[in-house]
Amino acid sequence: MVILVTGGAGYIGSHTCVELLNQGYEIIVIDNFSNSKKESLKRVTDITGKLFKVYNTDILNKDQLNLVFLENKIDSVIHFAGLKAVGESVSIPLRYYYNNVIGTLNLCEVMNKHNVKNLVFSSSATVYGNPKEVPILESSLLGATNPYGRTKQMIEEILKDLYNSDHSWSISLLRYFNPIGAHESGLIGEDPNGIPNNLLPYISQVAVGKLDKLKVFGNDFPTKDGTGVRDYIHVVDLARGHLKALENVSNSTGINAYNLGTGTGYSVLEMIKEFEKASGRNIPYSIVEPRPGDVDKCFANPSKAREDLGWIATKTIEEMCEDTWRWQINNPNGYIENNKIIFTTSDSRLSAETAGFVMSKAE
Ligand code: NAD
Ligand code: UFG
Repeated sequence: MVILVTGGAGYIGSHTCVELLNQGYEIIVIDNFSNSKKESLKRVTDITGKLFKVYNTDILNKDQLNLVFLENKIDSVIHFAGLKAVGESVSIPLRYYYNNVIGTLNLCEVMNKHNVKNLVFSSSATVYGNPKEVPILESSLLGATNPYGRTKQMIEEILKDLYNSDHSWSISLLRYFNPIGAHESGLIGEDPNGIPNNLLPYISQVAVGKLDKLKVFGNDFPTKDGTGVRDYIHVVDLARGHLKALENVSNSTGINAYNLGTGTGYSVLEMIKEFEKASGRNIPYSIVEPRPGDVDKCFANPSKAREDLGWIATKTIEEMCEDTWRWQINNPNGYIENNKIIFTTSDSRLSAETAGFVMSKAE
């Protein structure tokens, strides 16, 4: 089975590539490296010992996408490519709508043209907005509260319309809660650009001494200790959820949304304690004003994914923090770009093998 992975060089994509290769899938990665480095894919090869094709391609370029489908016999697509920073989406909404929505429209059009109709899409718990009640069920009301979240909600609607127009499509909408952690090798992990927006990358940069102290956004929420509560999920569990969804879309038609979370919420203060335990470092923090738009509690009811896909998160909060820390301490500056990674044409396997994996540029 040949799986096209868009955005495969990114945080969740690279972990999913490892799981796919380990399970014997052949993969092809498309990424424009706007928020990732080629080194992450080199390391996917280091972990798995497997080669795969990589196209330095933008999903906004339909002609290049078409070439990828012409050159390869693709069975299914896992679609991670997208911009994901909530704050940035408020400042530059058009770029978010353009990249995420138009990029997905292009992908679906090209898939349709080549009769590839199995799709696993990266949605987000952000589509629920300010949830009326927790734990959140897939049937809960949707109401994203920022442009990024609205791109995900719109794409979900577009994909539902697509399925309604042609019942031979098979689509999984995976609503991730809060992915954290890293591969246990410490070779791949989350490598945010600049100052991290999310809690765990921020905490781990404080622990490693790159940042002075954490700002805890509010301690007056109606939660166990007043700080925000989230459903943190290990990125490897999340990656495995994609393989389960892939099996499901390969064996049936339809469109289904699934919450991928653990079902348990942890507060910011609890996460600080867990990370201190995992790292053996002190995490200085101060309480500041709440971040505008933050919800007090957000955690999943993940039973639909268990029942339909046979998927359940297995990794503990300790493992999430230990693996995040291993990645951080081994790679304090994230991925350093490796100049030895070279671009080759897709049929030039000889030089590709020297590079460690095949890199091709659709032109
Ligand atoms: P990431 O930024 O690490 O990975 C996304 C990848 O897509 C990057 O490698 C980027 O270079 C690539 N990309 C972006 N636009 C592209 C384009 N036009 N053409 C080709 N490649 C493009 O993000 P991630 O954390 O791995 O997230 C993956 C997906 O999951 C995203 O769609 C994101 O919105 C969604 N998601 C992430 C989280 C999270 O907290 N990390 C939560 C919910 C949903
Ligand atoms: N927090 C702090 N200080 C920080 C960063 C975060 O106190 O420096 C708190 C937040 O207030 C929140 C919790 O830590 O209570 C988690 O915040 P994150 O920014 O890590 O995660 P969010 O739940 O706010 O948002 C994330 C992604 C969204 C995604 C959502 C649901 O950023 O894109 O999870 O999947 F939609």
